[in-house]
Amino acid sequence: MDNWTELEQSCLQCNKCGLCAGRNNVVFGVGNKNADIMLIGEGPGEQEDIQGVPFVGPAGKLLDDMLSIIDLDRSKVYIANIVKCRPPRNRDPFDEEQDACSEYLKRQISLVNPKIIVCLGRIAAKKIIDSEFRITREHGTWYYENNIYMTAIYHPSALLRDISKRPETFEDLLGIREQYQKLNG
Ligand code: URA
Ligand code: SF4
Repeated sequence: MDNWTELEQSCLQCNKCGLCAGRNNVVFGVGNKNADIMLIGEGPGEQEDIQGVPFVGPAGKLLDDMLSIIDLDRSKVYIANIVKCRPPRNRDPFDEEQDACSEYLKRQISLVNPKIIVCLGRIAAKKIIDSEFRITREHGTWYYENNIYMTAIYHPSALLRDISKRPETFEDLLGIREQYQKLNG
C-alpha cells in the first residue's frame, strides 16, 4: 500500500475521538495530491457527511465559485478539513477533537507538500497559522513557515450568512492568485 492509501485507510477506520459516533462517513479529503495550493476547512457538514466529500453543500458551491474567480478548480487544489467527522449540528469542533485528528492533516500536508495553504475560516486559521489568529483583522495576511506561504480567508459559510464580507474576500482571493503566480514564475 502506498502512503496515501495507508493514511486514508487508517483515517476511514478512525475512532480516536467522540465524533466517530455520529458520522455517516469520514471525510478524508479530495483533489490534486500534487497541488501547489491546499485548502483547509473546519469539518464536514451535513452534505459532506452524507457524501464523504468535503465542501459539497451550499458552502462548497460558493467555494467552487470563489476558486473559479481566480482561475482555479478542484483539479488544481487539494481540499481537507481540520476534523474529518461531522460535529453534531455543525458545532465548532472541540480542541480535543481537533488535536485527535491533527495527525491525519499533518500527513496530508506533508504528502501534498503545497507551496500555499489557504485556511477557510477562523477554526482552521487558529489551528494552522496561530492560536491567537483573529479572522476579522488578519484575513488576507500572509505568513511564511516551513517553506509554505499561508493565509486565511472568511469561511464560505460566513460569506453565505454575511454578504458584506464578500468584497474583502474578493481582494483576498486576488492576493492568493498573485502569490500563486509569483511562486509559479
Ligand atoms: N465546511 C467545512 O469547513 N468543511 C466542509 O467540508 C464543508 C463545510
Ligand atoms: Fe478520528 Fe478525526 Fe474522525 Fe475524530 S474526527 S474520529 S480523530 S477521523
